[in-house]
Amino acid sequence: MDCHILIVDDEPKNLVMLEELFQFKGARVSSATDGYMALERVARNPPDLILLDVSMPGMDGYEVCRRLKADEKTQRIPVIMVTGLRGLNDKIRGLEAGADDFLSKPVNAAELVTRSQNLLRVKQLDRQLENAYRRLAEISAYTNTLLSQFDPFQFDIQQSLSGLMEFLLQPGLDRSDRPERLLLLSAEAGSLWVGWRYCNRGGEVEATPLSGGANAEEMDSVFGGRGRMAVNLEGADPDRLPGRRIWADLGEEPPTRNIVGYRSQSVAVLALDFGRRVGDYDSQVLSSLVATIHFFLKTISSQIQEVDNAFLYTIGTLARAAELHDEDTGDHIIRVGLYAEAMAQALGQPEEMIKVLGYSAQMHDVGKMHLHPDILRKPGPLSVPEWEEVKLHTVYGARIIGDHPRLAMAREVALTHHEHWDGSGYPHGLAGEAIPLPGRIVMMADVYDALRSARPYKRPFDHAAAVGIIHRGDERLQPGWFDPEVLEVFLDIHREVADIYNRTEQ
Ligand SMILES: [Fe+2]
Repeated sequence: MDCHILIVDDEPKNLVMLEELFQFKGARVSSATDGYMALERVARNPPDLILLDVSMPGMDGYEVCRRLKADEKTQRIPVIMVTGLRGLNDKIRGLEAGADDFLSKPVNAAELVTRSQNLLRVKQLDRQLENAYRRLAEISAYTNTLLSQFDPFQFDIQQSLSGLMEFLLQPGLDRSDRPERLLLLSAEAGSLWVGWRYCNRGGEVEATPLSGGANAEEMDSVFGGRGRMAVNLEGADPDRLPGRRIWADLGEEPPTRNIVGYRSQSVAVLALDFGRRVGDYDSQVLSSLVATIHFFLKTISSQIQEVDNAFLYTIGTLARAAELHDEDTGDHIIRVGLYAEAMAQALGQPEEMIKVLGYSAQMHDVGKMHLHPDILRKPGPLSVPEWEEVKLHTVYGARIIGDHPRLAMAREVALTHHEHWDGSGYPHGLAGEAIPLPGRIVMMADVYDALRSARPYKRPFDHAAAVGIIHRGDERLQPGWFDPEVLEVFLDIHREVADIYNRTEQ
């Protein structure tokens, strides 16, 4: 029996007899001759099992038991009550006090040892179960955090795996529940497995690059061709230890107690030297955590990015379709998107808004699809009904874009990119901040590009002339149309705007 037993009895001859019995069985034994001493001994050095006499002067066994079971720190220590009383009421009192088992005096030695062993076994299982529950709760909390913080557009596999290494080595864990070292290895097809060592140094997780690399055969010699493993090295045949060469090639000390591992085609994690024996449970936990990051999150992230690319491509195609009968080339819509982004940036808008504005701005004239090509291409001035029809491209545009949440800004821009700050625009004659900021920005961008471009009724202006007209106005355009803040930003970054035009002009 590899355990510590506390024997509490006020009769010295009983103490000696029980001490000798358990010492003979290999247990470490301590003793107390009254209740107070027993509680003090338990507090100082908690035993694995307590043999408790009931009838003692001062505090009796029932009271000692009650106090032990009321304290969170001692309630899991099994207590066997040894009583000279045989009555049912005494047993009931003992049960009420929380005793785990009873024996009557005179004690039968074989029975006492068997019952003690049973209780110790139950206690050990109880502790294992408690550890497993706690670990499960931690893993579940970790996975929840991982998923709640998951951003498919910012996903970094190396950073996520590194975060997992830190979780597996976290200082809060029982020493037996964390490995001494973790090796995170990766390999491209056919190349060496190289990577990092992670250690917990006094509460801080430290990552160090491994000085060497392992080839495919060496990895096979550790894993034996399997995807995951858990091996205890103590007592194993030295000739059959997994991966005898790999440690030297990685520049690592070989493990001494155990190895838990997971590997896929391109990533592997080796957890070395847990402070307890390891089993299938450990390799399952490790492989499911690594696989969650490596396959689940990485796959979701790249799929979402692919869908996003397809979404942006579709927007571009739709925007270009609207230009089919227009005098502009497809570059007009791209430029308007780029000017808008530059202005939003200079206005100090958040990164996400700038990105969304970039693609939303491209769709500003999507409603022109509804206009008759003859109107769009008419060289001379438009009649009043034709002009009224042109104004409707804003409303058509909003209708085409619809009400998908990801296109909310695009819809807003399509509807308001001809509104003027002074209220002289269309379709609703909105003024000032009643016009959404994206609309005000795209209006500025659209006007500049129109000035730079040739139209059936006008020649193209160079950059300086276009900026001059925006600044001072002319017969067709008033500086009062622009949001003063947007205008100021435009003038601040006008060189950048000119560069965008020059880069994309055909
Ligand atoms: Fe327009």
